[in-house]
Amino acid sequence: MSEQLKGQVAIVTGAVGGIGSAIVERFLAEGASVGLIDFNAEAGAQHTDMLEKAGHKVFFAQADISDYAACEQAYAAISDKLGAADIIVNNAGISPKTQGRALSVWEMPPDEWRRVVDVNLNGVFNLTRLASPHMVHQRRGRVINMSSVAGKAYCDIVAAHYAATKAALIGLTRHWAAELGPYEITVNALAPGRISTPLLKSVSQEVNEAVTRVTALRRLGTPEEVSDACLFLASDQSRFVTGQVLDVAGGWLMT
Ligand SMILES: NC(=O)c1ccc[n+]([C@@H]2O[C@H](COP(=O)([O-])OP(=O)(O)OC[C@H]3O[C@@H](n4cnc5c(N)ncnc54)[C@H](O)[C@@H]3O)[C@@H](O)[C@H]2O)c1
Repeated sequence: MSEQLKGQVAIVTGAVGGIGSAIVERFLAEGASVGLIDFNAEAGAQHTDMLEKAGHKVFFAQADISDYAACEQAYAAISDKLGAADIIVNNAGISPKTQGRALSVWEMPPDEWRRVVDVNLNGVFNLTRLASPHMVHQRRGRVINMSSVAGKAYCDIVAAHYAATKAALIGLTRHWAAELGPYEITVNALAPGRISTPLLKSVSQEVNEAVTRVTALRRLGTPEEVSDACLFLASDQSRFVTGQVLDVAGGWLMT
């Protein structure tokens, strides 16, 4: 074990989903203690139980990240149990479809639009707002925002709310990198392409095959490949990298 994150405390949102759980496992294998935040209480409790039995230092807090008060409670509970976070991975995100299809602007229910902004954008603000004071105080920290290649280039399989929020995360990443850089905190984003997770089931097999045909590496990515890139951004290896967006997309939608 190389233990690149030995002694550090990380918080991962969307921690029981496809990419989130791979990041949690990667960070634990590198010696971090990890606070898991997810909407899904049942899967969270099961997952945490399994990780605890394997001897890892973990704590699960159920929260809807769009709710600031719920995030405050989750952050306090994790800090209490594991210590204040050195690393925050803003990974939770949603990409609603209707019968496998991304809705056009004239069809979009305003409530769906608002929900995506609340989760994908406001949720990232909420947790970073809570985690940043300690990082500023200790003059060390890592913030990693899960964007998407769909935030950088037009992508017909997602709806505008998803593209807009993922693009917003790139703006946030650059702005926060400038704000937090003087305190030795780096802020970067990951932009995955098509990654094999439950999120993919929202579109048909044909759509995923069409993506594969125009991906340089001719396959979908795995959650572990995203977690490797996330570890790079969380570790000391990336100490002079900030305000950047790292594509993990196998050469799909290269920008
Ligand atoms: N899978 C892909 O192809 C892909 C591509 C680009 C970007 N991404 C991004 O990666 C991230 C993870 O995606 P994934 O594929 O692992 O998805 P997933 O659906 O497997 O996991 C998402 C997790 O987030 C949780 N979640 C959703 N809403 C939440 C909320 N309001 N509060 C707390 N938790 C909430 C879910 O319960 C789930 O456990 C997302 O931000 C997604 O947009 C995924």
